[in-house]
Amino acid sequence: MKILALIGSYRKGGVIDLSIDEVLAAARDAGAETEKIYLIDKHIEFCTNCRTCTQQAGERRGTCPQNDEMAALLDAIEASDGIVLGSPMNFWTVTAVTKRFIERLVCFAYWPWGKPAPKTRKLQKDKRAVIVASSAAPALLARPLTKLVRLLKEVAGLLGANVVGVLYIGLAAGEQHPVLRKRTKRRAHRLGRALAGVPR
Ligand SMILES: Cc1cc2nc3c(=O)[nH]c(=O)nc-3n(C[C@H](O)[C@H](O)[C@H](O)COP(=O)(O)O)c2cc1C
Repeated sequence: MKILALIGSYRKGGVIDLSIDEVLAAARDAGAETEKIYLIDKHIEFCTNCRTCTQQAGERRGTCPQNDEMAALLDAIEASDGIVLGSPMNFWTVTAVTKRFIERLVCFAYWPWGKPAPKTRKLQKDKRAVIVASSAAPALLARPLTKLVRLLKEVAGLLGANVVGVLYIGLAAGEQHPVLRKRTKRRAHRLGRALAGVPR
């Protein structure tokens, strides 16, 4: 079983990175193979709304004319059995580097010119996903009042994954070199096991 984590934080060693490490460690303990990808390290161009990728009918994602690393990244995601999607909250939503990646997922929609709205291609939902999100604001306030988690759940759906759990870390901006609370680690481990298919 292969699990791929996509990190939308700018900070290596930050709250999202450390939390995802814990999720992946538990998944590895349960027998999974894991890989971490920092979106900031990838060459991903902006979607230019040329809509080339949305003109092609069928279940397979459309082909983007941009010459960058996005197609290889999507191939790796499609080949995985589970994904972790992590982003801090910046200005009440995902980080810009995460949003740049998300906009490129329009290739999972069929939207020929002349049609007012896209139709999501029918992907088999055969993967599991865990969402990891963080904010300076307390979780109780920020999670229900913003679109951060809902957006990451939509992304998981587009990538053919069912969300098995969400790890939300509030009050996450206090330290330059963060240390995870014990409770966060425990919840991360539980989610890592769920991601690897260990029954609760
Ligand atoms: C540009 C910027 C915008 C931010 N906007 C918000 C915000 O709208 N709400 C909030 O609660 N925290 C906000 N934060 C705090 C981050 O969410 C917090 O530092 C982050 O979750 C920590 O994760 P990291 O260590 O992986 O970077 C912002 C931080 C930055 C740098």
